[in-house]
Amino acid sequence: METKILTIQSAEDGAAIAEAAEALKSGKLVIFPTETVYGLGADALNETAVDGIFTAKGRPRDNPLIVHIAHEDQVLDLVSVIPPKGKDCMDIFWPGPLTLIFNRSELVPNYVTAGLDSVAIRMPDHPVARSILQEANIPVVAPSANTSGRPSPTTADHVVEDMMGKVDLIIDGGHTGVGIESTVLDVTVDPPMILRPGGITREDLEAIIGPVDMDETILPSDSSIIPKSPGQKYKHYAPRGEAYVFAGNIIGIAGEINRRVRESGSKKTAVLATTETLELYRGMDLLVNMGSRDNLKEVAHNIFDALRCCDDEGMEVIFIEGFELEGMGVSIMNRLLKAAGGKVILGL
Ligand code: TXA
Ligand code: MG
Repeated sequence: METKILTIQSAEDGAAIAEAAEALKSGKLVIFPTETVYGLGADALNETAVDGIFTAKGRPRDNPLIVHIAHEDQVLDLVSVIPPKGKDCMDIFWPGPLTLIFNRSELVPNYVTAGLDSVAIRMPDHPVARSILQEANIPVVAPSANTSGRPSPTTADHVVEDMMGKVDLIIDGGHTGVGIESTVLDVTVDPPMILRPGGITREDLEAIIGPVDMDETILPSDSSIIPKSPGQKYKHYAPRGEAYVFAGNIIGIAGEINRRVRESGSKKTAVLATTETLELYRGMDLLVNMGSRDNLKEVAHNIFDALRCCDDEGMEVIFIEGFELEGMGVSIMNRLLKAAGGKVILGL
């Protein structure tokens, strides 16, 4: 398949927006930027188009998709009921990096939800995504635009690496803002439950709707527990090298990473560190700054790029500093632990 790339300077670029919207309406696969990561979009009600998403990504067909919308009115067609806490979340956090799980209506096809009775809906906040969704005026399913299992794409370069020749159109809108995917919140249960931590923190949610539970597989301690969000059970975000996450006090972490770098012999070794700790490391082949420990939004913005950078440089072993399990730290650690396939060194 021939893939066209359109670089867009702003959401006011009417010609590019119209081309993307038309392509979606005619059943094509269109990659566009959202405020979290790039999405691989298709008309949610076109079975052939949706099937193309699974093929392009190599995505298991039992992993349901998120339906993206531009107006709140569109929710009414897609769900059987909007619980009050769901409505509160829509009012406060939409548009934005929060996906809500509702009981679905008859309209939502099985091939979108993988046969579940629920549907995931999100209203993205990126001006380009909003304009495309408004102009197309159809519900659009859009998983992250990476090959299944790879780190999610936060730049058009990442998208091109994974998706060239597999989709019809790529809209290049620069680096995405948040950098990790939306938080997935199930509002069919009370208290609502976070199935995937992301751009909106548990603390943000609790300030509006009170206590919120977290699926216990978000920070896996026991791999026999099955996640409630199908996508969470797959190996994810994996760089090609072997990755390890280190948790504990920062001096302990740096000491242990340096010791392991020395022991790694001729293997090409990367360290993913932070602004505050960069100076502590010696002897590695690649040192990447994920951002400041005082600004975890910056770290979230950078982590997928940092993981892909290790692949670009052919790194065989990757040592990654961990973060405290609060606020955005939970979302970041969820991605890092998956990138490391659960290989975490605790108690430093
Ligand atoms: O930020 C995002 O959410 C991005 C951008 C492109 O919008 N999209 C994204 O989609 O991350 P995807 O397909 O990569 O991840 C969707 C996640 C998966 O873990 C999936 O299992 C879960 O949402 N999900 C979708 N529908 C669900 C449902 N009905 N019940 C539980 N989990 C669901
Ligand atoms: Mg994904």
